[in-house]
Amino acid sequence: MKPRRDNRRDAGSAEPASVDIHGLAFAYPAGPKVLQDLTLTVEAGERLGIIGPSGAGKTTLLLHLNGILRPQAGSVAIDGHHVEPSRMARIREWVGLVFQDPDDQLFTPTVGEDVAFGPRNLGLGEEEVARRVRQALEALDMTGSEKRPSYGLSYGERRRAALATVLAMEPRVVALDEPFANLSPALVERLVTLLRALPATIIVVSQAIFPLLATCDRLALLAEGRIQAVGSAREIAGNRDLLRRHGLDFNFYLESYRRLGL
Ligand SMILES: Nc1ncnc2c1ncn2[C@@H]1O[C@H](COP(=O)(O)OP(=O)(O)O)[C@@H](O)[C@H]1O
Ligand SMILES: [Mg+2]
Repeated sequence: MKPRRDNRRDAGSAEPASVDIHGLAFAYPAGPKVLQDLTLTVEAGERLGIIGPSGAGKTTLLLHLNGILRPQAGSVAIDGHHVEPSRMARIREWVGLVFQDPDDQLFTPTVGEDVAFGPRNLGLGEEEVARRVRQALEALDMTGSEKRPSYGLSYGERRRAALATVLAMEPRVVALDEPFANLSPALVERLVTLLRALPATIIVVSQAIFPLLATCDRLALLAEGRIQAVGSAREIAGNRDLLRRHGLDFNFYLESYRRLGL
């Protein structure tokens, strides 16, 4: 594994990190097992999509990547370093989690302060903080939004501001929870283009396969607490029986096109 460069706090020098999940098991208090013996490896710089039906444990899995939830069995490692309490500051710097609900991510009065919060917490100088805020907002087409109140943004703008708070950390791993939900196709396309250009390992969770196909090299199917299959986007999307078994097939959409003779 390549060592982390010492100068990565200078402009854009973060290096993608690998993610190794081994034998992970988790249940919420008094609940049934949500994740069971889950093993998944993501290479540094890879874009992996995780598809799975509602309630499969996708969000629960993502919350383990930066230590918000702790494994009850098994382990999660970033660039070979186990996610554990003694290492939490470093792990949170490395792994950026984009929550499904932007209101879980935005909590200061203005967009600029929200985006500056993480970099400032890293102890970066104000000049570097300002550079990162500018750069992150620019990447999300939100240049000049620093002074806008977060509560005054539209839902789509709040989603972009939430992503900007993560990008400003220049994380080595970016994990996104249903980032395509409730976005118009044009916005999905912009987000896909952005994700494909990010110099980070990307893990993206979705119930919809098409945006994952556009974004990812490899797909994993999560159902009943386990990875049921993992393979190239082509292999997983082509396994229509597998998708159908888990309520994830897309034939319904294609049929609508066919019915119209398109
Ligand atoms: N905070 C929680 N407390 C108890 N049960 C939860 C909690 N969060 C999720 N669950 C349960 O865990 C299972 C997996 O949820 P989740 O990880 O949110 O699935 P997904 O993101 O794939 O829809 C579901 O049965 C859900 O009801
Ligand atoms: Mg979820």
